[in-house]
Amino acid sequence: METDSSNFSRFKKDASFDYLYPQHIKELSPMHWTPVDVAKKAAYFLAVPHARVLDIGSGVGKFCITAGAHFPKTQFIGVEQRKALCKYAEMAKNEMKLDNVSFIYGNLTDLDYNDYDHFYFYNAFYENIEPGSRIDYAVRTSFELYERYSRFVYAMLDAKKPGTRLVTYHARETQVPASYALVDNSYSKVLKMWIKK
Ligand SMILES: C[S@@+](CC[C@H](N)C(=O)[O-])C[C@H]1O[C@@H](n2cnc3c(N)ncnc32)[C@H](O)[C@@H]1O
Repeated sequence: METDSSNFSRFKKDASFDYLYPQHIKELSPMHWTPVDVAKKAAYFLAVPHARVLDIGSGVGKFCITAGAHFPKTQFIGVEQRKALCKYAEMAKNEMKLDNVSFIYGNLTDLDYNDYDHFYFYNAFYENIEPGSRIDYAVRTSFELYERYSRFVYAMLDAKKPGTRLVTYHARETQVPASYALVDNSYSKVLKMWIKK
């Protein structure tokens, strides 16, 4: 757990956490960033000591920062395709002084997945099929990209070794390979925890 009690109070309410960001980022929070209670529950499941957990599409870093502050023995890494969001994530991480959290600016298709043990996935591709849920116009969206990214993540997860942990939030069950067993289903069945068989 964190040593700085002023940091700890950040994780009591979403509004306190979102205060780390400028106004236009705060306004995106209810629809696009993981609520702190959900992030804590997901992190508890994923935080195997000395493991490396990847947030697939990390936005402004809300999941990784919440998780990293509560579980200092685990590394939390985010990959994010929007440079501006990645910059806000870095700023928030520095403000919280977390050395077990890092962010990669880039496309998730360019990573070496041998580097990661467990995964968090908050339906990162939805804006490709629902234009009303667009974060901004910094990247191209399309049905084709939704299919391509979903297929990529599915194949990557399917290739991981037994025991790999996965948390999905607002994702479709068809995005998770049948090789993963559902072990927990909460928050009106939108937060799911899986372990590879
Ligand atoms: C719903 S937000 C979730 C943010 C963060 N995981 C959280 O829970 O607070 C999904 C993020 O995934 C990013 N994303 C979508 N497709 C991506 C891709 N192909 N590569 C990297 N990031 C991607 C989006 O830019 C967006 O910031």
